[in-house]
Amino acid sequence: MTVEFRPSELWEPDTRRDPHAFYARVRVAGRPVPQVDPAGNRLWIVARHADVLDGLQHPAIGHEVLEHQAQAHRRSEAERIAARQLISLDPPDHTRLRGLVGKAFTARTVAKLEPWIADVADRLVARALELGTFDAVADLADPLPVNVIAQLVGIPEEDRVRFRAWSATIVSAADHDASATLAFAAYIDELAERRRAVPEDDLLSELVALEAEGDALDRDELVAMVQLLLIAGQETTVDVIVNGIRLLLTHSEQWQNLLADPSLASAAVEETLRFRGPVEIVPPRFTFREIAIAGSTIPAFERVGLSLWGANRDPAVFSDPDMFDIHRSDVHRHIAFGHGIHFCLGASLGRLEARIMFDRIARELPQLRLAVDPDELNGFRLHRGTLPLRIR
Ligand code: HEM
Repeated sequence: MTVEFRPSELWEPDTRRDPHAFYARVRVAGRPVPQVDPAGNRLWIVARHADVLDGLQHPAIGHEVLEHQAQAHRRSEAERIAARQLISLDPPDHTRLRGLVGKAFTARTVAKLEPWIADVADRLVARALELGTFDAVADLADPLPVNVIAQLVGIPEEDRVRFRAWSATIVSAADHDASATLAFAAYIDELAERRRAVPEDDLLSELVALEAEGDALDRDELVAMVQLLLIAGQETTVDVIVNGIRLLLTHSEQWQNLLADPSLASAAVEETLRFRGPVEIVPPRFTFREIAIAGSTIPAFERVGLSLWGANRDPAVFSDPDMFDIHRSDVHRHIAFGHGIHFCLGASLGRLEARIMFDRIARELPQLRLAVDPDELNGFRLHRGTLPLRIR
């Protein structure tokens, strides 16, 4: 079937209102669809589940081309640090760094945080109960991940206000804010020095302890890693919590199911991730040569946009994909955390935070309602978004 696309359709206001209709047409087209982004770059969109998986594992798709281009004008310290982030590295650099970080960021590291996360969630929910009218973003979701990351890394209590301020700047800056990065880097240097002298039970101590074993993260890699945890772990988690609340409250029978059985919290998290995960398209990659993908070819040195939203609504994989259903049996096939070598490092942590939050909300705030007309939420975006709620 011939399906036609306008050159920048993905960014048109109508498409932003309903991106899923666009991805449905890309899936039907049976080829990667070139789109020109607002900066004038061409991005080849891939949207079928099987093709996105293929792209995420393709040996000739990666970040390296971007790296080489960036290297030419990369001089400042902030740019150097940004270039050492795990998420934008290819093998063998990625393999080495991920292996090292994986030694410190383990299932045990995450499990240890559970009681602490539950405590923060309890306090946020108790405060919401007192307020009566509150905002899902500012009062429930936003404060959780940054504090969890601070706890995970081992930021001392007295430095948390500073840490949260840096985090807000680092997370919100469209491009890297050099002065925030530098101040942050100097702080991490100093804290790492303290942990080398006296280790504690935290991620930073585990990361610097690798130095004794020979192979370790170098200074830029260490700073870049903590920075990436903030960038990758903050807004994504907020987004899952807020959109999960929105979806549950606008699908009242499922909300009632969750109230009757809060152990469904985990299923609600997974279906939120599938139906409306935080990552629409994974960070763009490049083709290293001409490649065959999605029933056609993409030339060498082109940008590829692998759409997780497209994959997670593919009718070839999910029955009735446009239905939000926390009871669906095929939900485990979603790829909201990506796939392959860059599979989300914080997946179990993000899942844990959202699950605890949904569980507490179901138990403690059964009277929860939207304080806005659901129709006004159609264009809901995470960035600077709000979701007004009330319990009275
Ligand atoms: C990578 C999604 C939470 C840390 C990724 C990727 C996705 C993703 C799709 C792959 C990107 C790519 O292939 O280019 C999510 C979602 C979250 C979440 C849906 C919802 C809760 C977190 C949290 C952390 C985290 C809480 C850490 C505190 C990372 C890191 C990477 C990553 C470090 C890079 C891994 C690598 O390149 O090897 N995430 N993320 N994420 N995520 Fe998450």
